[in-house]
Amino acid sequence: MKDATAFRPVGALRVSAVGPRRLRLVSIRETIELSAVAEDLFRLRMVRGRKFSERPSWAVVRDDWPMAPPRVETGKETVAIETGAGRLEFHLRDGRWVLRDAQGAERTTGLAKRLGFAGDAARVALALTETEGIFGLGETTGPINKRGLRRELWNIDVLGHSPGIHPGLHSLYVAIPFALLLRDGRTTGIFWDNPARQTWDLGQAAPDALGVTADSGEIDLYLFVGSSVAEIVDRYTELTGRMPLPPRWALGYHQCRYSYETAARVREIAGNFRRREIPCDAIYLDIHHMDEYRVFTFGKTFPRPAKLLADLDEQGFKVVAIVDPGVKDDPNFGVLRRGRARRAFVKDATGRRDYVGRVWPGESRFPDFTNAQARAWWGEEQARLQQLGVAGFWNDMNEPANFALPSKTLPPDCRHDSDAGPLSHAVAHNVYGMQMARASREGALAHEPGVRPFVISRAGYAGVQRYALIWTGDNSSVWEHLADSLQMLLNLGLSGVAFCGADVGGFLENTNAELLVRWLQMAAFTPFFRNHTNLDTINQEPWAFGPPVEAICRRYIELRYQLLPYLYCLFAESHRTGAAIMRPLFWHHADDPLAVATGDQFLLGANLLVAPILQPGNGARAVYLPRGEWFDFWSGEAHTGGRYILAPAPLDRLPLYVRAGAIIPMGAVRQHTGESKDEVINLHLWPNGKTELAWHEDDGVTIDLATGGYSTRTIRFATVGRGARLDFGAAQGSFVSEVKRWRVILRCATRPYRVTVNGGQIPARFVAETGVFSFEIQNAVSPIVARLA
Ligand code: GLC
Repeated sequence: MKDATAFRPVGALRVSAVGPRRLRLVSIRETIELSAVAEDLFRLRMVRGRKFSERPSWAVVRDDWPMAPPRVETGKETVAIETGAGRLEFHLRDGRWVLRDAQGAERTTGLAKRLGFAGDAARVALALTETEGIFGLGETTGPINKRGLRRELWNIDVLGHSPGIHPGLHSLYVAIPFALLLRDGRTTGIFWDNPARQTWDLGQAAPDALGVTADSGEIDLYLFVGSSVAEIVDRYTELTGRMPLPPRWALGYHQCRYSYETAARVREIAGNFRRREIPCDAIYLDIHHMDEYRVFTFGKTFPRPAKLLADLDEQGFKVVAIVDPGVKDDPNFGVLRRGRARRAFVKDATGRRDYVGRVWPGESRFPDFTNAQARAWWGEEQARLQQLGVAGFWNDMNEPANFALPSKTLPPDCRHDSDAGPLSHAVAHNVYGMQMARASREGALAHEPGVRPFVISRAGYAGVQRYALIWTGDNSSVWEHLADSLQMLLNLGLSGVAFCGADVGGFLENTNAELLVRWLQMAAFTPFFRNHTNLDTINQEPWAFGPPVEAICRRYIELRYQLLPYLYCLFAESHRTGAAIMRPLFWHHADDPLAVATGDQFLLGANLLVAPILQPGNGARAVYLPRGEWFDFWSGEAHTGGRYILAPAPLDRLPLYVRAGAIIPMGAVRQHTGESKDEVINLHLWPNGKTELAWHEDDGVTIDLATGGYSTRTIRFATVGRGARLDFGAAQGSFVSEVKRWRVILRCATRPYRVTVNGGQIPARFVAETGVFSFEIQNAVSPIVARLA
């Protein structure tokens, strides 16, 4: 007898239909469709039988782009679709396929023998060249380059996620089946849109193959053949959606712990920040603020929440409340009663009863966030917190976590009544967290229209960036996790999730002064910057280790606030193009093998290079500077790139470098983002090169972008001969810029210059000891040209 679950490679194929952008092929058992979705994006679908699923994707928000009609070829042996950017070829005899770029270079090859189905499971495999690197895949442990590992995409609540601590650990909280393949300086993207559990063997079982298996569902591969990492991530985030601009306060420093257990303690923490003059924008309420962990409530230790929140608001603090999915199974609890009345909970295998699991509140039911009505109901419940003054929602435990079972989640045969029709939990599992974040974001917007929501989520699937930022869950206060968080954030950024961060200082276990300082120094340059620790650990607020440590922490938090104009421009860029905010070196240097291999440094935008200290006792570290010229941010010392240098790093110094020609806009130190406006922007210019800055400004609160409620302009800087030129393009958009003056600060200057602005000479200042040459320009919406001669 034949084993029904044995893998059956696709056999000989023939063409069954040809359309303007697509080709359909059939074998005895399967149907394959090849299409060009955009010039640089192909799709390969394969299904058992003859009918493709018509279920809408949870991830994909756009699936066709205007393009010149592709060439569709149907030969005897091979068929192909060719666009201006690439070509997807398929071999009819055995199912081998090849993706090429416009230059004809082979970007990737699908292995014939491993394309097809085995029982419920579906498989694909790609050939890997010897030096090919694999990046992305959302949030996974291990080195930045995933080559040689095996990872499972199955969202799971896991404590202390280090490969060292859990060598067998293959899954984390987020599942993003999108990878970037780096081969000889060329990048190719591959996305398998299928939320079922996927296993990615990244050259482990066979060193020359990348094998992917999905437990169920169709083969639905998107193949990206763009010409750079940036282009591929741009297209991927057009496909799966982009990060909406967060409120400006989201970019500040945030303080959290499990838990600030009483209102008095929260006030004390807030008071400490202001008294000690350590900038901070948000304080978090972990699960102890609730009445016995009943979601959307405040318990006895928070007697007058509205008053507390109003007082904190007065001091410039936003409050973010944790919102877990599990609803306490207490018949007297209003949220449970209303949820039941709305039939809003996930059902058990019978499809008739609500499934009851166990989380913090004890026995709990799980809202079915895959259902639009359940999401709308959740938003109504959440609105009560908004009315009290809660400014943001922290969606935790949304894998979902379940203490009742060894699998740590819901049984695979639970039933969802999803927007896309009935689904088993096995199929809905990986989208559950993302759909919870969606409920939270859409609810927040429905009840406070026009105000940018703030949602932070632990779990997610491809496209989660449309709804929430991701933090990397329960790390530990150990050095290995500081290093691991760096690669996790870089790979999240490559996977469309530009807004991400890790628990600063480490969550589990007690941190120590040195680890806190080093972690905070690095995190000041990560998109999300939140200090958080576990129940029963020692305190790790910036002042917890005495005045010298506090002073270093304050200085780096202040630097973060000074850099907010630069960071805000990067967030705006990411909102427009999907670009990572925090980038691996190869984002800008894909053809440099040493840059590709660097997993312990990163670029913030194109121009700031951060080389964090990731080990205890290190007073220096090797830093790889990619080609070009770089300046030490602190000393101004110039370095030629394309080599390693040794960077001094006493405890108060984070090795930080600026690319020659960079424009780094910086603002004033303030205690929170709402304290005052940046009327003077310090435009730090670093010589010997040229760059462009996409300046972006808006009110930082409302969603007014669609109607032009921003002020943008291109600012260009270039050194020309012995002088330099700074150009402000005309300002666009209806927002009236808050900038009154640009204070231009040319760094590493060796002499004074004669400065003209739009032809008229203006006064300037040169300080030889610091190498700073500076002058001020009144802001205007019309173009401004400053010449330094
Ligand atoms: C989970 C979260 C953690 C939180 C804790 C209590 O472990 O990951 O951040 O503090 O639950 O709510």
